[in-house]
Amino acid sequence: MTTKIGIIICSQRTPRAGAQIAQWVFNAIKDVTKPDPTSASASASSVSLNLIDLSTWNLPFCNEPGVPSQISSVDEYVHPHTRAWSAEISSHDAFVFVTPQYNWGYPASVKNAIDYLYHEWKGKPAMIVSYGGRGGGRAAEQLKQVLQGVRMRPVEKMVALAFLGREFTVKAATGQPLGLDEDAYGEGDGEEKERVWAKERVEIGEAFGELLTLLREDNREGEKLS
Ligand SMILES: Cc1cc2nc3c(=O)[nH]c(=O)nc-3n(C[C@H](O)[C@H](O)[C@H](O)COP(=O)(O)O)c2cc1C
Repeated sequence: MTTKIGIIICSQRTPRAGAQIAQWVFNAIKDVTKPDPTSASASASSVSLNLIDLSTWNLPFCNEPGVPSQISSVDEYVHPHTRAWSAEISSHDAFVFVTPQYNWGYPASVKNAIDYLYHEWKGKPAMIVSYGGRGGGRAAEQLKQVLQGVRMRPVEKMVALAFLGREFTVKAATGQPLGLDEDAYGEGDGEEKERVWAKERVEIGEAFGELLTLLREDNREGEKLS
């Protein structure tokens, strides 16, 4: 059976760095889910990764009359966009939230997207990758608490992607290419250049390993809506 994991692009800003950072996270996870040719186990090959872009969903500010935790059927949702969002989240087994830090917190776009639903999130493993000047750790901590509020199971390890200097920060804020796919990054021409977020790439592999462990435990309390 294929395990479907959604990588959520939490920023809805125009312009934004979120899409290219989420793509980089996607690629880093794809690397670790490549089947190991020396292993008899095929479990890693049955993971499907999908980008879920909140900008594409562009959900209006939550306008459902019901309290999501008290909904017992998708028929109770009033709006077609809520039903579609419910189907999208229900179709995934776990999530990776890729979030920027705005004013020491996460963006309103992701809180809004979470608040639309409850049962669809409940019991599912989640991983948080934050980014910002210093890595966005405050946003990650706050988001973790919200995910626990909808009874998700956030993995312990959170990955913080800190911007690499002033030029990088300006490029991120203005949505310019960050050169994340290149082998090196640096404003100077030194030998000290190293691959962008090399250490964090390893951490993403470790956090994703935790996510897969939670999925394997399969003790999901998730309640399916009819
Ligand atoms: C409204 C707003 C508030 C911000 N607050 C912070 C902050 O608290 N800490 C930080 O490190 N960066 C902060 N930044 C910088 C963002 O982390 C940076 O611009 C990043 O590119 C935003 O992600 P996005 O481009 O995907 O929207 C802020 C940016 C915006 C637009």
